[in-house]
Amino acid sequence: MRLVFLGPPGVGKGTQAQLLCKKYSIPQISTGDMFRAAIKEQTELGKKADAILKAGKLVDDSITLGLIKDRLQKSDCKNGYLLDGFPRTIPQAEGFGALLKELHQELDGVISIFVDEAVLIRRLSGRRSCPKCGKIFHLESNPPKKKDHCDSCGEKLIFRNDDKPETIHKRMETYRTLTEPLISYYKKKNLLFEIDGDQLIEKVFEDIVGVLKK
Ligand code: AP5
Ligand code: MG
Ligand code: ZN
Repeated sequence: MRLVFLGPPGVGKGTQAQLLCKKYSIPQISTGDMFRAAIKEQTELGKKADAILKAGKLVDDSITLGLIKDRLQKSDCKNGYLLDGFPRTIPQAEGFGALLKELHQELDGVISIFVDEAVLIRRLSGRRSCPKCGKIFHLESNPPKKKDHCDSCGEKLIFRNDDKPETIHKRMETYRTLTEPLISYYKKKNLLFEIDGDQLIEKVFEDIVGVLKK
């Protein structure tokens, strides 16, 4: 199964991707996680990406496409993959389409998750994530069992530095102008499934699994 998760910041892409990838045994490919890893390792890419993420803007299409091209050719992608946060612009979607052709692959679906902006802001402000294993929590809706520590690996949880109010607003704006057009792009290709993300995590998951069964 080859899938794309599309949706605004904080809608629950990462949360649902972790559940879905476990269920279908496919890798979660999050370009956001790849950039954060590069920043942590202070690679050349990381040095470039750091200021871009902090400003709530997007990394260059050509750099992002290059990363995905390498990643999709790794052996764990043989039985499919879930792209979380890619493509994010029309040029990325077109480059991805060309890459799929080159790899003789087809996309099974694009899951577009939607939630009101006021809810998104609450979700991002209360998010905490594990720097070691990547598990995602929320102070109110999905708290860790032990305060400030990861349920899975015990590491101290962190607050993403692009989850500050100023950056959240810029990320929302970037989403509306550059990413939202992908909804009609994939609708026209008959690949789009729309999911209401303003429900309990378990219920959103059930709805996604439901559309994938059809
Ligand atoms: P990225 O990391 O992809 O960030 P994003 O798209 O802004 O999305 P988030 O990760 O913030 O939210 P999410 O939808 O995963 O929500 P989550 O599950 O965590 O990208 C970061 C940056 O990298 C970009 O700004 C850009 O600079 C760069 N970048 C990435 N990809 C790029 C690309 N392709 N091209 C160029 N640049 C790129 O959930 C959020 C919170 O809500 C959590 O606390 C969670 O516990 C809670 N929650 C989840 N579901 C529910 C629910 N149903 N009910 C209640 N709470 C919930
Ligand atoms: Mg995410
Ligand atoms: Zn952890």
